[in-house]
Amino acid sequence: MTTSSHPPARYLAHPGGRIEGELTVPGDKSISHRALMFGGIAEGDTEITGFLAGEDCLSTLRALQAMGVRIDRPEEQLAHGSSDRAASEGIPSGDGHVLVHGVGPDGLQPSAAALDMGNAGTAIRLFMGLLAPQRFDSTLIGDDSLMRRPMERVAGPLRSMGANIKTREGRPPVEIGGSSGMRAIDYALPVASAQVKSAILLAGLQSFGRTYVTEPAPSRDHTERMLGAFGVEVLRDGPRIAIEGGQTLRATRVNVPGDFSSAAFFIVAGCLAAENGLLLRNIGVNPTRIGLIELLQQMGADIRVLPHGGRSNGDDPNHEPIADIEVRKSRLRGIKVPEGLVPLSIDEFPILFVAAACAEGETLVRGALELRVKESDRLAAMAQGLTTLGVENQLLADGLWIRGTDGFGGGTIDSHGDHRIAMSFAIASLKARAPIEILDVANVATSFPTFLATARAAGLRIDAT
Ligand code: S3P
Repeated sequence: MTTSSHPPARYLAHPGGRIEGELTVPGDKSISHRALMFGGIAEGDTEITGFLAGEDCLSTLRALQAMGVRIDRPEEQLAHGSSDRAASEGIPSGDGHVLVHGVGPDGLQPSAAALDMGNAGTAIRLFMGLLAPQRFDSTLIGDDSLMRRPMERVAGPLRSMGANIKTREGRPPVEIGGSSGMRAIDYALPVASAQVKSAILLAGLQSFGRTYVTEPAPSRDHTERMLGAFGVEVLRDGPRIAIEGGQTLRATRVNVPGDFSSAAFFIVAGCLAAENGLLLRNIGVNPTRIGLIELLQQMGADIRVLPHGGRSNGDDPNHEPIADIEVRKSRLRGIKVPEGLVPLSIDEFPILFVAAACAEGETLVRGALELRVKESDRLAAMAQGLTTLGVENQLLADGLWIRGTDGFGGGTIDSHGDHRIAMSFAIASLKARAPIEILDVANVATSFPTFLATARAAGLRIDAT
């Protein structure tokens, strides 16, 4: 058990875990970021339940506070309880209740210091769109990983809208000069990216005229849904989205479902080792997020999605659908991943590669260049880790080829400080013949602060130091 006051830095995952029972996962990261930001610029008080108190969303929360938004967390003293650190200290976890006192469309104040986005790509890119039209200057920075990530994909279109924005060789720090007014744009996204799409929509909301964004393939649509829930008219016509500048957000209640991307680790764990089944409760199943289910089903997985009834799953296009997901140990076969499913499962490739390593036959993923610019180069990090375990694979420019096996060895894995690489190799221990040591795992707290406790409760055998 971990008893230090810091999140664990290293996992030692032992072979032989069995998966069973029922579990929930913390709130959705993408939705939690948006709920805070939209609540911050809305008129009135926004009540959030199920908020993810992970490090990424706390970066967004602190940035809004630095710009004068009052945010109450009734369970703040207990909020640490949602982390593995606190779980090991016996502190109860809260229910993610947050109250954001919106300052309205012109109410944000300049921050005295640079806004530190930590590890959070969603935070920095959405804030670029939110802050570019503001009258005041802002500077956005982050941790070593974020400081290496590409920002011109957002800065470029924002400049065409009139923003005064500088990056350092395309990367943070991002320096935004105060604006005296921006104009709408009609922009075709070169890559399917919800972060870029959302940044442009947020800037468009505060610009003159009607902004259009066209997507090359569908990406997660949480921004469109949630803006709708805050009373903003977002017009959607196939791949084209339109938003009229000058609309005001009206505060609302946001119920954040469990994060499908966190559930994904246990969906795969269930496929590998849940002889008697595993039930995941209250998981967000927005169709733009659940490509992994389709991919695993193509591989032969026994997965059932049991949608919740009621308004949240009804016809209201602004609500996020929720379901319980049941999964059983299955015999997996390798597949050729259809490129159209790549954006719909973009964050799930590390764990899909683990499933592929345990499947019969070969799996091929192409058209996934975006994986090279996530929290780490996820193609290279997964290829390196799988090679360490003895899984035959080939790293491609835009993908990965893997030959599955019925059991691989152990070894020491460098997670490259990437939360999803760390969690994926922890799940891989279910099929390993020797312990897997995983280094640099502190960033698991960015998205899934209770991972260790949840994994142990589900039946994984993981030590942490
Ligand atoms: C996110 C969009 C995706 C995803 C990220 C969260 C979002 O990034 O990988 O984890 O919340 O909009 P891209 O927009 O770069 O594809």
